[in-house]
Amino acid sequence: MNSTTLSAVFPGPIRLESGANLPSVTVAYETYGDLNPERNNAVLVCHALTGSAHAWGPSSDPGWWEGVIGAGKGLDPGRHFVVCSNFLGGCYGTTGPTSIDPSTGRRYGPEFPQMSVRDMVMVQTLLMDHLGIRRLACVIGGSLGGMQALEWAAGFPERVDSVIAIGCGLRHSAWAIGLNEVARQAILQDPAWQEGMYDRQPSRGLGLARMVAMLSYRSPRSFEGKFGRAIRSGTDPALFEVESYLHYQGEKLVQRFDANTYLGITRAMDGHDLVRGREGLRGSLKKSPVRCLAIGVDSDLLYPTYEQREVAEIFGRGRYAEIASPHGHDAFLIEYDQLNPLVAQFLNV
Ligand code: COA
Repeated sequence: MNSTTLSAVFPGPIRLESGANLPSVTVAYETYGDLNPERNNAVLVCHALTGSAHAWGPSSDPGWWEGVIGAGKGLDPGRHFVVCSNFLGGCYGTTGPTSIDPSTGRRYGPEFPQMSVRDMVMVQTLLMDHLGIRRLACVIGGSLGGMQALEWAAGFPERVDSVIAIGCGLRHSAWAIGLNEVARQAILQDPAWQEGMYDRQPSRGLGLARMVAMLSYRSPRSFEGKFGRAIRSGTDPALFEVESYLHYQGEKLVQRFDANTYLGITRAMDGHDLVRGREGLRGSLKKSPVRCLAIGVDSDLLYPTYEQREVAEIFGRGRYAEIASPHGHDAFLIEYDQLNPLVAQFLNV
């Protein structure tokens, strides 16, 4: 956890969608800016699969969404009270598979109950209560972060004015589930996985999972422009730059992430389906005062733009906007010149 990360402990039992109870939940979070006296300027930033609560920081310790948070950017701590928390089931300070199970004194590991995106959001409501935020001006996120934003609109419409969902859909598609399953199998088939009871990471499997995922986050055009057929200098046997890049990204994730956590989160993503178990949702979102901005990336192969158009259409007050980029799904972490004006305009209405 970063030095700026705070934590709040919520005593249990905390009941998950599956029926499992957690004896207590610790939530790691950060805040930037101040809550105004009217308490109506809070914006919750939701992170994606391998993110953390550290969305913004000094140049010596930058956060994962520096491009969107800051003076004059889409989310300006001079105006907004920005909150970002590590979600339930994560491995950056919030209770998850790497936490100690108080009933055994050992890490939960593979025994950590399967959580859902709805559970993540339920835990975020506890944090909002803790911070004295009754109603959020906006919940924003990309990818899994966007799925959480949509769950806020569907599950807690009385607690949120607007949501911005970038690069995600109403439900996880067969394509996205398939890619997640390949990543999971890479971990599960690594002999070091040890049924999840490992002391040392199943690093080959987790690294391979990341390599597959990185391909799905970009696009053929992006990789062609970045690497083409260039060979990494000094490699023997010769490695294409793209191979070197994927190896590097795989190894980098192994240093900072946990394999059981990766399995749990990808399963939570696969379970994402906004209308699941909510018969009247389509009708209620049509009438809902919650505004939604769904942002797509024209080259996103993982969550194609028709999914974000569908998101915008389910809301009575929904709008669709598109980012033009060769960078695929990852554009929400790259194309800040396009993203910031969209966010700022939407929030300033
Ligand atoms: N061989 C080895 N390493 C290479 C390389 C090569 N041919 N080309 C680039 N790299 C390294 C760089 O040295 C740099 O390392 P560093 O991060 O330790 O400084 C890193 O790869 C840069 O990555 P790149 O993808 O080129 O940067 P970018 O500016 O195009 O993209 C991010 C920025 C944040 C989007 C990207 O780095 C990233 O992390 N992508 C994954 C994010 C993610 O999880 N997305 C999914 C959300 S669901």
